[in-house]
Amino acid sequence: MKKVLIAVGILTSVMVACSPKASKTPAPPIATEAATTLVGTANTGGLLISSAKCTKCHGNKTDHVPKQTFTEQEKLMHAMAKKAKLSDQETADLMAYVMANAKK
Ligand code: HEC
Repeated sequence: MKKVLIAVGILTSVMVACSPKASKTPAPPIATEAATTLVGTANTGGLLISSAKCTKCHGNKTDHVPKQTFTEQEKLMHAMAKKAKLSDQETADLMAYVMANAKK
C-alpha cells in the first residue's frame, strides 16, 4: 500500500511539473542559494553569537571563534545556525562574524 501511495505521489509531481501552467512560473530559489548570496554583517553576527539564540543551550561561544580557522569551524557554525533556527540573513551575519574573527 505504501508503495502505491509513493507511486501516486511521484506521478502527481511529474504531472504538475509538466503542466504548461507550472512551466511558466520559475522554481523559487532554494534556501541554501539565498544564504550564499546574502551579505552578512559581522557586527550583527557578533551580537547574535552572544545572544540567547545561541546561549540558550550553552555558554557564550564567542571565545571559540579565534581558536580555529574559518574552514575548520564552518561546518560546526552552519550546524549551530540550524540548531538556533537562524534565518538566512542571520546565518550570513554569523558567518561574516566568524570570517572576520577566525584564526588567520
Ligand atoms: C539547540 C541547542 C543549541 C543551540 C541553539 C546552539 N548550540 Fe552550539 N552546541 C550545542 C551542543 C549540544 C554542542 C556540543 C556538541 C557539539 O559540538 O555538537 C554545541 C557546541 C558548540 C560549539 C563548539 C563548542 C566548543 O567549545 O568546542 C560552538 C562554537 C557552538 N556550539 C556555537 C554555537 C552558536 C554560534 C550558536 C548560535 C548560532 C549555537 N551554538 C547554538 C547546542 C546548541
